[in-house]
Amino acid sequence: MDALAPRIQARLDALAAISADEGAITRLYLTPEQARASALVVGWMREAGLTPRVDAAGNVIGRIEAVEPGAPALVIGSHLDTVRDAGQYDGPLGVVTGIACVEALVREGVRLPFAVEVVGFADEEGTRFNATLIGSRAFAGTFDPDKLDCPDGQGVTIAGALRAAGLDPDRFHEAARRAGEILAYLELHIEQGPGLERAGLPVGLVTAISGATRLAVTLEGEAGHAGTVAMDGRRDALAGAAACILAVEARCRTDAGLVGTVGSLTATPGAVNVIPGRVGFSLDLRAPDDGLRRAALADIGSAWEAIAAERNLSLTKRITHDAPCVPCDPAWMERIATAIAEEGYPVHPLPSGAGHDGMAVVALAPVAMLFVRCRGGISHNPAEFASLEDIEAGARVLLRVLRGLAAEHDASGPLVLDP
Ligand code: GLV
Ligand code: MN
Ligand code: MN
Repeated sequence: MDALAPRIQARLDALAAISADEGAITRLYLTPEQARASALVVGWMREAGLTPRVDAAGNVIGRIEAVEPGAPALVIGSHLDTVRDAGQYDGPLGVVTGIACVEALVREGVRLPFAVEVVGFADEEGTRFNATLIGSRAFAGTFDPDKLDCPDGQGVTIAGALRAAGLDPDRFHEAARRAGEILAYLELHIEQGPGLERAGLPVGLVTAISGATRLAVTLEGEAGHAGTVAMDGRRDALAGAAACILAVEARCRTDAGLVGTVGSLTATPGAVNVIPGRVGFSLDLRAPDDGLRRAALADIGSAWEAIAAERNLSLTKRITHDAPCVPCDPAWMERIATAIAEEGYPVHPLPSGAGHDGMAVVALAPVAMLFVRCRGGISHNPAEFASLEDIEAGARVLLRVLRGLAAEHDASGPLVLDP
């Protein structure tokens, strides 16, 4: 069989060239860049023998029917949106590898006893709007329609952005799939951490996806003259935010696996000679255990209340995202483990600290994931890198899972898998 990785890499390069920022990769939900990326993916799906469509939420879905048309589908996917100044593998690698695997099967004439859909989810990162997993939640039918009014930084709502992209917000719910239509969701993704590199392995078997909570926080003090207001009379919202950030860091250092990040902060009015009167900041808190995350969230909340009281600031916080841990499905993990072993690698189980579309799709179907080693564990960074050899290893494992499923069942009959 010809190598799959060069074609996968060429397609990743083509997607990486589509960006809102010159010299960087930034492709946000419902932007013209995303439309251009989706158009490329639609073309590749067609070439592979998949029938493509863009759903009511902007997800790109390519389907190949089973022997019996209309059969439930195995869904292989990941996301096409990115963070700002992203790497080129986070998300697109899973989409283009899924297309390459279907293409290889079609070329070999393998008929699968179930339909396959390759999905490029339109929003996983949640970079543009204060909502996350919009594409995969729409697909799973769990997106809260009230959030269509959620604005981006320019005041454009999700509903408005859907209209600008030629989609109808009143039909957004039509992206939802029924549980019986989907057999399982498989996602190949770069690890985004150092585990596989440390283990010296190209691929790893994901055991669970960490739960996450995100908050939008505001601290309100009083703006004032930097030269005339004495230090002990100040209500400096930015100094308060600094204390809050350090409280997050201190709490998260106490438990292995618990991680907390303040990744965005705005100080107002934002002038060199004015005491900051108001600060907005975000919190992203994750743990591989929901109890641990909830306990840390409560502790951080209490620490912030104490800081605000001591500094005479008012504190408000709003949950913008909350997703529990998602364990991967044991039967599908077993299929991936078998394929990893048959490709000649030790099976290395590891959890995912990063969020993935499977956190949403699990509402519909069992979820399993395969990780590909990434250099230095670096991700959400333009230096993100996976080698051609490792991409090839990941693609071959995924292909072997598909072939194994075909062999598991009589290709002339419908596929019945244990849920
Ligand atoms: C998505 O990549 C996330 O984990 O934030
Ligand atoms: Mn990401
Ligand atoms: Mn991702």
